[in-house]
Formats: sequence, structure tokens, C-alpha cells
Amino acid sequence: MARITLAILILGCCTCAVWSVNDRLREVFSWRQLDFTFPDQKTRQAAIASGEYVQANNLPLGLEVWRDKLFITVPRWKAGVASTLNYVSLGSGSNQNRSPRLVPYPNYAMNRLPSSGQRITDRIINTYRLSIDVCDRLWVIDMGIANGTKLGQPQLFVIDLNTDRVVRQYVVTANLLRVDGNSWFPGLVADADWKSCDRAYAYLPDIGGGLLVYDYRRNTARRIEHHYFYFDPLATVFNIGGVRIEWPDGMFGVGLSERHPDGYRTLYFQAMSSTRMFSVNTSVLQSNRSLSDTFQEYRHHGHRAAGMQAGPMSMDQVTGTVFYALVNQDAIGCWNPRRHERLSGDTSAVLVQDSKTLEFPADIKVDMDSNLWVLSDRMPRFRFQVLNFDLNDVNYRVFRAPVADVVRDTVCESQLNGNRLLSSSENQSRPRPITSSNMGWNTPSDKRSDFD
Ligand SMILES: *[C@@H]1O[C@H](CO)[C@@H](O)[C@H](O)[C@H]1NC(C)=O
Ligand SMILES: *[C@@H]1O[C@H](CO)[C@@H](O)[C@H](O)[C@H]1NC(C)=O
Ligand SMILES: *[C@@H]1O[C@H](CO)[C@@H](O)[C@H](O)[C@H]1NC(C)=O
Repeated sequence: MARITLAILILGCCTCAVWSVNDRLREVFSWRQLDFTFPDQKTRQAAIASGEYVQANNLPLGLEVWRDKLFITVPRWKAGVASTLNYVSLGSGSNQNRSPRLVPYPNYAMNRLPSSGQRITDRIINTYRLSIDVCDRLWVIDMGIANGTKLGQPQLFVIDLNTDRVVRQYVVTANLLRVDGNSWFPGLVADADWKSCDRAYAYLPDIGGGLLVYDYRRNTARRIEHHYFYFDPLATVFNIGGVRIEWPDGMFGVGLSERHPDGYRTLYFQAMSSTRMFSVNTSVLQSNRSLSDTFQEYRHHGHRAAGMQAGPMSMDQVTGTVFYALVNQDAIGCWNPRRHERLSGDTSAVLVQDSKTLEFPADIKVDMDSNLWVLSDRMPRFRFQVLNFDLNDVNYRVFRAPVADVVRDTVCESQLNGNRLLSSSENQSRPRPITSSNMGWNTPSDKRSDFD
């Protein structure tokens, strides 16, 4: 009897350690497989018959939120992706569909691959992650590659969300890309001023070690290369959902701070294959100054423990919190530079961790109302270990939670809230804030000190 109780205790404990650390996020949508809204049934049947639509090959990757639309991208890694840019309605009410079909955006025609002879530039071929600005515009970077075949140059689209019209289309020319072809834009962040919507920029990380700065008013872009944009050679090995991957991915995640009184902001950035965080003033990016002149204006903030690589990131303007997807830990983490200038195990927190529901957190976004959104999709299994990818299991999930709830009682909670809490009487019994270093991560300690 005692032995049985012990076994239950151990089992119970393992279960809670693995499954129940995702209390801070609420699941909004989930899918076993994706499906799309086609213009009509005939078009749908024809797409299936021709192989233009192969349901199993559609995996969601990026997300963005605008009013009642949740945008979801589907990369064209494999053939049979029905539409790369889509949305689902957030709607309201408790009986809403939790596994809705994706609606191609701005329409189905623009998301279809061109057949021979058709203009490539009229189409959105392959997009990963998106950005929405304060002027109701959706910014989309399209890699122009489908099923491994290059159809055209990468293109930047800017779409007016009120009219669903493309208001700007910019072709990224070869001189802005790496000569060896190893350029890839995993996403972008738009920087617009609502008082003057023409004065807008987009910052596009290139995993090949670059940053493109697009100037909306001039319709030009320039490429910046800084040593901080590279990957860390000791952080290129990932183990996600049982799949070992070697990813030499540089510059990946970008997040913008609130606007400073002088009108500029701070761009925080990190490489995917790294645990380090950096930043730069957007005045440096927008100026025409040379790298040698500005080299020292790029700042290093510190690092998380080994094994805690993070790519996608997003920033909350209200609390000043930086959120990032810890892809190698099935987790979401945070760091608040307003409270701690340095990033370390003690100044950052792991907010949620779940090896089942957060297997590969592919994208993370804070919307204009300070809600945190997370999309997880088991991408490594889908891409590299297909036999281990079960189409009958729930594979894709979208979560949401108010930022204030997510960071409560952690080192990321804003100073303002912290002070208020300090004066409250219940504070005496408050538990120690969760930090990365007391979560008990089973990772080797990071002994590197050269960069500190
Ligand atoms: C997609 O790429 C694979 C691998 O190169 C190829 O075998 C297949 O024919 C392609 N499918 C289509 C529809 O282009
Ligand atoms: C950003 O750069 C501008 C122009 O050089 C400067 O006035 C401002 O103080 C900088 N902001 C921060 C937060 O460093
Ligand atoms: C930036 O500098 C280059 C080279 O010095 C010059 O040709 C270009 O006109 C400058 N652009 C702006 C916007 O000042």
C-alpha cells in the first residue's frame, strides 16, 4: 500500500512538473490540422485535385492581432499550402469555433502561386512573421520561395487594414542580401508615428547576420551589419520535441520600446542561436551614419543560461517588458529593461513552460491592448521528423493572456505595480518571484564571463 502511494506521488509529481506550468496563458484556438475558407466548393475541390492544397502540409507559424482579426501565416516550406497570409475572426461569445478555418488575406487570388506566365509580383508567396503598426497597416515580408524553389526576390508589402488594399510594395534587391544566398527574413517590426503615418520604418532581421532598415517615406532600404547580429557558435544545437537540430541562425527577434521623449525608440534584438540580448537606439538605424561611426552605440545587455536560446520576441509598451519564445525549453520568458538593465538568470523569468502545449513556440506578440499572444506548432517534427508528427493529435495552438496577469509576481512586473504592491499589507507573505535561476532548469551552468 505504501509502495503504491509512493508510486502515485512520484507519478503525480512528474505529471505536474511536465504539464501544469502553463497556468498563465489561456488557450484560445487549437487545431489538429489547418483548413481554409476557399471562395467556393468548386475551387476547393479543384485545389485538392491538383495538389495545390495538401492539408497536411499547412503549418501555422506567425501571428499578429488587429481589432477582431487574428492574422496567421502559413509558410510555403512544402507544396500544397493553400494560402500563406490569413486571418481568423476573434469574435466573441463562448460557443465560438475553437478550430476555425483560416481566411486568406487580403484575398485568395493574391495568395495563390502564379502559374507560368503570370506576374509573380502580384502574389504573396511565402511569409513567416508579421507586424501591425499604429496607423492600421499590416507589414508583411515575403521571401518569394515556395517548396524550395525561388520564384522571385523577397518583397515587403504594406496593407491598409481599413481598406484591405496594398499601399506599398517594395522589392528587396540583391545588393541588400548576402551574396552567398544565405539571407532569410524571419520577421520584421514596423515603427510608425500615428501623428505622421508617412514617417515610418521597418526593421527586418536577416538570420544571415544583417538588419534591413526600410524607410517608408523614401521607399528605400539599407543594410546594416554589426558583429552583434551573428549567432553564438556554442548555441547552435537545439533539441525540440525529440528532434536534434543544428541551426546557425543569427539576427532573429526584434522588439521596440515605447517612444522616448526625443521621438526615437530602443530596438532590442537577439539571434536565434544565442542567449544574448542587445539593443540600439533607432536614431542610429534611421541615420545615414556609417557602421564604424556608430559601432559603439550598439549595446550588450547580458545573457540567459546555456540552452535558453530564444528567437521570436515582442515588447509591451505599457510595462516595458520584453517577451521571448524559449524555443529550446518549450517556454516563454521575459525580462524588463526598465527594471534591470542587465539580462541574467536573476533578472529574467520563465513565465510558462509546457513540453506538450508549448512544443516550439513559433511566434509571440503583444497587441495594442497589452495582451500577450503565443502560437506553438511543433514545427521541428513537422519539418524534420515527419513520421513523429501525428496528424490526429492537437498540433497547433494559440494562447492569450493580459500582460499584467502574465508577469504578476515576477521580476518583469513593472516598477509601478511593484511599488504599489510593496505598500500593500498582503505583501509580507508574497512568494519569492520566479526567476530563471530558481526554476531549477536542468541546464549546464554558463561559465562564460568574457562578455559580462
Ligand atoms: C516540391 O519539392 C519537392 C522536393 O524538391 C519535389 O519533389 C516536388 O515535386 C515539389 N512539388 C511541387 C508541387 O512543386
Ligand atoms: C537616442 O538617440 C537620440 C539622438 O542621438 C538621443 O537624443 C536620445 O537620447 C537617445 N535615446 C536613448 C534612450 O538613448
Ligand atoms: C546616405 O549616404 C550616401 C553616401 O554617403 C549618400 O549617397 C546618400 O544620399 C545619403 N542618403 C541620405 C538619405 O542622406
